[in-house]
Amino acid sequence: MTDVPALFRPLTIRGVTFGNRVILSPMCQYRAIDGAATRWHRSHHGRIALAGVGGALLEATAVVPEGRITPGCLGIWSDDHLPGLTELAAIYHDEGIPVGIQLAHAGRKASSATPFEGAQPFAAGDARGWTSVAPSAIPFGPNWQVPTELDAAGIAAVIDAFSAAGQRAVAAGFDFVEIHGAHGYLINSFVSPISNRRGDSWGGDNRFRFAVAIAERLRAELPDTMPIFYRVSAVDGVEGGITIEDTVALAAALKASGIDVIDCSSGGVSGPSGVAATPPAPGYLVPNAERVRREAGIASMAVGLIMTAELADAIIADWRADLVAIGRELLADSSFVHRAALTLGLSNPHRVLPEGLSFYIERRRYEGMAR
Ligand SMILES: Cc1cc2nc3c(=O)[nH]c(=O)nc-3n(C[C@H](O)[C@H](O)[C@H](O)COP(=O)(O)O)c2cc1C
Repeated sequence: MTDVPALFRPLTIRGVTFGNRVILSPMCQYRAIDGAATRWHRSHHGRIALAGVGGALLEATAVVPEGRITPGCLGIWSDDHLPGLTELAAIYHDEGIPVGIQLAHAGRKASSATPFEGAQPFAAGDARGWTSVAPSAIPFGPNWQVPTELDAAGIAAVIDAFSAAGQRAVAAGFDFVEIHGAHGYLINSFVSPISNRRGDSWGGDNRFRFAVAIAERLRAELPDTMPIFYRVSAVDGVEGGITIEDTVALAAALKASGIDVIDCSSGGVSGPSGVAATPPAPGYLVPNAERVRREAGIASMAVGLIMTAELADAIIADWRADLVAIGRELLADSSFVHRAALTLGLSNPHRVLPEGLSFYIERRRYEGMAR
């Protein structure tokens, strides 16, 4: 396959083969009703499935109702969610594309309005909101409710909920799962010293314990053939927060727990997600994915303003990450993979792209318009 650009080289992880290295990054759609998928999700994912991505991740999907960020978030806490999720998985399978689901708990960043309704946390007493939970009773910000500190039984119940969600993901036909351990949500808030001030065996030097417990539980219970991704906030980006060295150590622990890929986002524990030492620019978070890959010896996925075929291809070709997650650029232009195949001069596109796309590319090449 030396003729194939790096971005279009398939990658097999456990029993799953990603046809190329472009993964739809998980993105909340805020269009669910009581956690259930709607026609919007089918349209959105249908568009991406036809775009020839190598794999796709469904948005943050709550393992318990109070783990939703907003009332519009997807859920997987009930069998009632299975029909909608099964259909979304089938939309990708119809195109031969592996699809995963991001299992999530929003922790102290739960109970806020959707972006369509202002994205603000619900005030105490607002009937649309609910009580949030966290490792410590520290609010995310001035307007946010003080979360309830989880006790040992509460922690065990959340781990059970991730386990049940994993079983439902299998039942719905997903090929892989991603544990949402980033952006200041519950798992990240256990890992970060900013939000975890516990004095018991879930805090201090044991801040990774909750993340590792969820990883171990899912690995033990999901099929051996099913990859498990874990999204980190590689750095908190604030004084006293998680550093890349912490994340390399966490990644090594997760690898030992059977996690297959570390998806390297950042920030969100006490400010915006996506922060880095440098201002946002194309590929600005790639150095984190590179360090995790090299120093923890585990496959990594890079994310963050990867907007051109050349950059995406170079990240893979230069061994800086094993996969690239693309979010907004795929929303803006679902033809990203398509254009990338043209730009990078992919030959024999039938091997890696859906039939309709490969036909189009060959036609363009025939007409001398491949570039
Ligand atoms: C509308 C929207 C919703 C998002 N929802 C999620 C989510 O559910 N889970 C997650 O881990 N990241 C989420 N993100 C972050 C993206 O997955 C991605 O990491 C980020 O947008 C940077 O990649 P990009 O520059 O390619 O968009 C969201 C981003 C956007 C724009």
